[in-house]
Amino acid sequence: MWKSEIIMMNGELMPYADASIHPLSLAVTYATTVFEGLRAYHVPETNQFSLFRVEEHLKRLKVGMKVMRFEDTYESKYLTDCLINLIRANKPDSDVYIRLLVYIEGQGLLSTTGPIGFTAAAMPRKKNTFAEHGMSLGVSSWRRLSDNASTPRIKATANYHNARLAVHEAKLDGYDGALMLTPDDYVSEAPIACFFMVRDGKLITPSCSSNILESVTRDTIITRYQETTGHQVEQRSVDRSELYFADEAFLCGTGQEIIPVTSIDHFSVGDGSIGPITENIRQDYFNIVRNPNADHKEWRTLV
Ligand SMILES: Cc1ncc(COP(=O)(O)O)c(C=O)c1O
Repeated sequence: MWKSEIIMMNGELMPYADASIHPLSLAVTYATTVFEGLRAYHVPETNQFSLFRVEEHLKRLKVGMKVMRFEDTYESKYLTDCLINLIRANKPDSDVYIRLLVYIEGQGLLSTTGPIGFTAAAMPRKKNTFAEHGMSLGVSSWRRLSDNASTPRIKATANYHNARLAVHEAKLDGYDGALMLTPDDYVSEAPIACFFMVRDGKLITPSCSSNILESVTRDTIITRYQETTGHQVEQRSVDRSELYFADEAFLCGTGQEIIPVTSIDHFSVGDGSIGPITENIRQDYFNIVRNPNADHKEWRTLV
């Protein structure tokens, strides 16, 4: 398998091992970083890469830079060109996962707003170990960050402290992963993925006001589900106990892709196997992200 040998810092390509940032930068001290995780799927027929929904990822990043009050911003066109150069420089021969981080590289105080810098890395990523057989989730005792404390709507590095607390608790409690509730006890999301469930044939997901990251994958699934079935997805508040009525459930995200959930709080989801609606959604998703002839050409930038 190919290796990540070239990284990009502030537009310059360099050997992966040479990337560095000062430990007293605000990015390290106060977590003044926003980032994106993207994927470029290998298209074997043409030996190209399908960079998926880069426009939407960079739109979210741009709002993140604004909310972080960075003194400067990066234009999406410039960052897209950088990512394309980065992919090509690494000469991948299978799917690529990309991390793009923008941060304050200067030192200073909480009120410091720059100078800003960015790093982009392209790496291979193994298939998620839970993709095939699904995962068990436990509802975390840690509440998801509230919108008015450290808004989960932007992909800020600082938000992942909250996510990490839930991950470690879940593992120590014997679950494969965590599901977090909002401060007012509605279902929110998993530490690094959004949540969907099926109940009586209806697809349901917590609304964007449930302290979630406005996920690109969530949007892809909602759009495609409505297009392919003609049914709406219910985006609404979900109580904890409604989870136990689910016939199917799954997590989704760019990195996680689509991971079936087979139990929650030791209650089996449906009969504990991967359900037909989840399987259809998953098949459609992999077709849409990779197949150059699938619908939504505008979502795929071919590299
Ligand atoms: C907290 C959180 N929610 C949801 C997601 C899924 O977002 P996306 O589909 O845009 O990758 C992620 C992905 O990184 C995440 O970290």
